[in-house]
Amino acid sequence: MSIALLKPLITLLADGEYHSGQVLGQAAGVSRAAVWKRLQMLEPYGLAVQSTKGLGYRIAGGLDLLNADAIRRGLSDRARSLVGEVQVHDEIDSTNLRLLNGPAASGDVCVAEYQSAGKGRRGRTWVSPYGCNLYFSLCWQVHQGVAALEGLSLAVGVVIAEVLARFGLARVALKWPNDILLDGKKLAGVLIEVGGDLSGECRVVVGVGLNVRMTQSPNSAAVNQAWTDLASNGIEASRNMLCSALVSALLECLAGFAESGFAGYRQRWLQRAAFLNEPVQLLLPSRQVNGVLRGVDLQGGLELEVDGRAEVFTGGEISLRGSDAAG
Ligand code: BTN
Repeated sequence: MSIALLKPLITLLADGEYHSGQVLGQAAGVSRAAVWKRLQMLEPYGLAVQSTKGLGYRIAGGLDLLNADAIRRGLSDRARSLVGEVQVHDEIDSTNLRLLNGPAASGDVCVAEYQSAGKGRRGRTWVSPYGCNLYFSLCWQVHQGVAALEGLSLAVGVVIAEVLARFGLARVALKWPNDILLDGKKLAGVLIEVGGDLSGECRVVVGVGLNVRMTQSPNSAAVNQAWTDLASNGIEASRNMLCSALVSALLECLAGFAESGFAGYRQRWLQRAAFLNEPVQLLLPSRQVNGVLRGVDLQGGLELEVDGRAEVFTGGEISLRGSDAAG
């Protein structure tokens, strides 16, 4: 069933209060007897509805729904001059795919309550339950080809960490190249994709998934690493406000990045680097490298000390040596 048919129910239940079967039936255009069946259709979207005899139905804790106008209103002055269209979708396959393959313009922002095929790095799935986290992508036109984007994924990590610090979360760590961790668990992920002429006029899409409040345990088969969210760390922020702040900071970053590059972000990245001066394992497609993480270079390459020699790597996945944490 399409989410559009379920939206009237979601809108009513978003307040977290109990609603009678009669009221919900009227909203959904079904009989009172058919309400429960309709409500069960919310389950695949990650929405759990409680039913209590004599009280009716509710979504415990309610939902803080996204709103395009609110996101636009919350943008910084500079971001307002950079932003294009702000689209908010109830359901989409992937916000990255929409901006990569659709008719997007520089500065367009695509946000979704739910992604049916959210993409993670390295072909993984990004589990995207309805209405509880943030899933959004930004599109930016680049004239200088992908070479000008070296280090962008690290810069994006810095920008997200700095915005989260403004919301009261100062302990965020950055795991090369762009995982955002809190106490060693994944809090947010970034997926950067590029379309067009890679040596000239191209379109970069920056996709961000941030765990705001995982209302229920996501499908464990699809989530292959330890995760955390803002709510369980005491951060209760409106998703619209968070989205505005992140979009503002990211647009400001994108607007200058092709000219200025990663240099201005390097120190800020190092300040938050996970595993700095610790033994790590770098997993490359064809081999594994053991070394000590010494930092990143001016292009965002990973500096490892391997057998006493400095080496720089531009791809792969790192993990702390001796830990079984999945990357
Ligand atoms: C990672 O694997 O760490 C990257 C995850 C990126 C997920 C976000 S959610 C919004 C955007 N749309 C997608 O399909 N993926 C990114």
